[in-house]
Order: sequence, then C-alpha cells, then structure tokens
Amino acid sequence: MNLAVFVSGRGSNLKALIDAEELKSLINIVAVVSNKSDCLAFEIAKKKSIDCFTVSNEVSSDSLFFTDLLEIFLEKKISLIVLAGFLKLIPAEFISSFEGKIINIHPALLPSFGGKGMFGMNVHKAVFNSSAKITGATVHFVDSIYDNGLIISQEAVDISDVDSYEEIAERVLNIEHKLLPFTVKKIAENKIVIINKRVKILD
Ligand code: GRF
Repeated sequence: MNLAVFVSGRGSNLKALIDAEELKSLINIVAVVSNKSDCLAFEIAKKKSIDCFTVSNEVSSDSLFFTDLLEIFLEKKISLIVLAGFLKLIPAEFISSFEGKIINIHPALLPSFGGKGMFGMNVHKAVFNSSAKITGATVHFVDSIYDNGLIISQEAVDISDVDSYEEIAERVLNIEHKLLPFTVKKIAENKIVIINKRVKILD
C-alpha cells in the first residue's frame, strides 16, 4: 500500500512509521508533504530517499498547489494519506478525492480537546488546565471539519501525577508512536470496518 505522510515540523510520527518493523512488508511511504520546506521531517524523509513536496495556497517558486499534488498522488497510486501534525487546512476538493483514505493523529482523546486552535502544546496546556486525570491519542478519519471524522483508534494514559503540560506532551507522544503504526497496519491489512457509524478493528 502506497502512503503519503503530511507533516509540519519535527516528524517523529513519520519516523515511527518508517521504523515500524511490522509495517515493512505492508506499506511504502512514497511522499512526505509539508507547508514548510525546511522542516525536520523532510530531513528524515530525504535520508530514506522519500520524495518531499511543499504545498501552499499561494503562488511560490518552491511549492505546489493541492491540485498539482492530486495529480502526483494519482500517478504514485497513493491509497492512504496520514496527517501527522499538518497544520494547514486541506481544500475540500482534495479531501473528497481521497474520501475515507485520509487519517489524522490527534494528541488527545477526541471528542475532547479537539477543533480549531487545538494543536501542538495548546492541546496539552488545555488538558493540564482542565485538571483531567487521563488523556491520550486518537487516530480518526478526516472530513472537512477539524477533528470531526469517525474515530478509528484511541489509547489513554494516566496523567494524575504530572506537574506540567510538557510531561503530558511526552507521555502522549510515546503513545502516538505505537498507536499510529498499529492503526496503519490494521488499515493495510483491511481489518477496519465501519458498522453503524462506528469503526471496528478486527483481530
Ligand atoms: C503530534 O503530536 C500529532 O498528534 C499532532 O502533531 C504532532 C506531530 O508531531 N497532530 P511529530 O511531527 O510527528 O513529531
């Protein structure tokens, strides 16, 4: 299965997918896309000779429009797009061209702590300030509304003893690095079914 990963910054989830032994015979990451041409994730991708593409909604010499990307993706036969920290809005036409084939990882237990503005440390600060005792990570299908699509998988972590939002961020990131490869594996193995608007993961 050919995969594209959308990132904005660090790329630790991209790295988790690249390094996951259980995915080696199942997926091929053939494109990494970012709105920032100088992001760390591109360095990770380039070391593995994965093609990198910068996208923008404005004309610029070093970036593509989503319409150009669509053509490239069809040519590369991409059947799954993973959003891992991509912060820009993806045009609705692009999303509908890949309906049911775009997933996002969110660093909290949706439907709490999601929606517009809830990204990066903002999420962990909101969780910390809420006095919640657990948080976690969620992988969900992407539709045209932020953090709204059907939830595929979630894992929770106890944060009852933390003293800072940075500690929450670290615990959640550890979970993400397992939950995302697990979920991609299940998709690649065709073990995800939707029944009554709930996503079931088969063994
Ligand atoms: C992750 O926390 C992910 O949940 C969120 O953005 C962050 C990306 O981190 N959507 P990284 O670039 O994969 O390290």
